[in-house]
Amino acid sequence: MAGTEHMPTAVSTGSPIPEPGPPGVHGICFSCDSIKDMDIAEETATRLGSTATWYSVGVLATDQELALRCAEFCRRHGLHALFHPLDLDVCGTDPLDDRLLRLLGERAGELDSPWLNIDLAMWVREGETLLESLVPMPLVDEAVDWAVDRIKHAQDVIGRPLTIENAPYPFVVGDRDILTLMTRIAERADCLMTIDVGHLYGLRVQRGLPPVLPSDDDIAWDRVVEAHMSGTFVRRFEGGVRLVDDKHDWPVSDEVWELADALLPRAPRLRSVMAEAEGMTADELTDSVRRFARRADHWWSAS
Ligand SMILES: [Fe+2]
Repeated sequence: MAGTEHMPTAVSTGSPIPEPGPPGVHGICFSCDSIKDMDIAEETATRLGSTATWYSVGVLATDQELALRCAEFCRRHGLHALFHPLDLDVCGTDPLDDRLLRLLGERAGELDSPWLNIDLAMWVREGETLLESLVPMPLVDEAVDWAVDRIKHAQDVIGRPLTIENAPYPFVVGDRDILTLMTRIAERADCLMTIDVGHLYGLRVQRGLPPVLPSDDDIAWDRVVEAHMSGTFVRRFEGGVRLVDDKHDWPVSDEVWELADALLPRAPRLRSVMAEAEGMTADELTDSVRRFARRADHWWSAS
């Protein structure tokens, strides 16, 4: 793979970053559609035993009942919850709603989630939650100021750190590198980072770039606490047009495993690697998490 010759580096970013999350806890996370597939989550967690460490909870700020059910599920299976809000909009144009931010803080408290993971995207438009139709942050310098102000405010009101994730890019606006923009945002907003390896692979293929870039050496790897992986759909058309999409119910492709192997050992505070799996059966999800666990040892090597 191009670029894998770059040595792992952890860039110091000035002020020390407090140790994120419960001390000493790192491992594999899995996700499910918590709204309709908790039976799959139950069956998978029972089969996996201690193979999984985290469970990713996607709930709306107002859905206290589901958050409490997921918290109880995690306690019963010895899992730690990671909260992935579905309605926090750090890159959109609707003004941030402090009432919603306070509710998110309450849900995070109920789940005891050490941080809230959020894609750098527009999640809400004029009050409507976009969910499957996220608009990714444009890859332009101006997006940094916009996102920093909103993330700082959200963290202040929620009372917990955010970890910002590179969103999927079914289309691309702008020409900057996503990890470079994320680093600038994270350092100024003093937040954490999540690398979605499948999203990153898809974006770089979309732009005709190698999966690993020299600029990856200068990323704030010491802020990366989470990584995600799922299946990737890539189709190449005549004339160089590519169609790339994220498929949570597909197995992870070799190219994405290789990119994870090249990048994740650079993150000294990596705590969770998530098998994204909405739409999988319990059999498929169990196999997927076991596959992640078999490959994971060297991903923590910088810790
Ligand atoms: Fe993700």
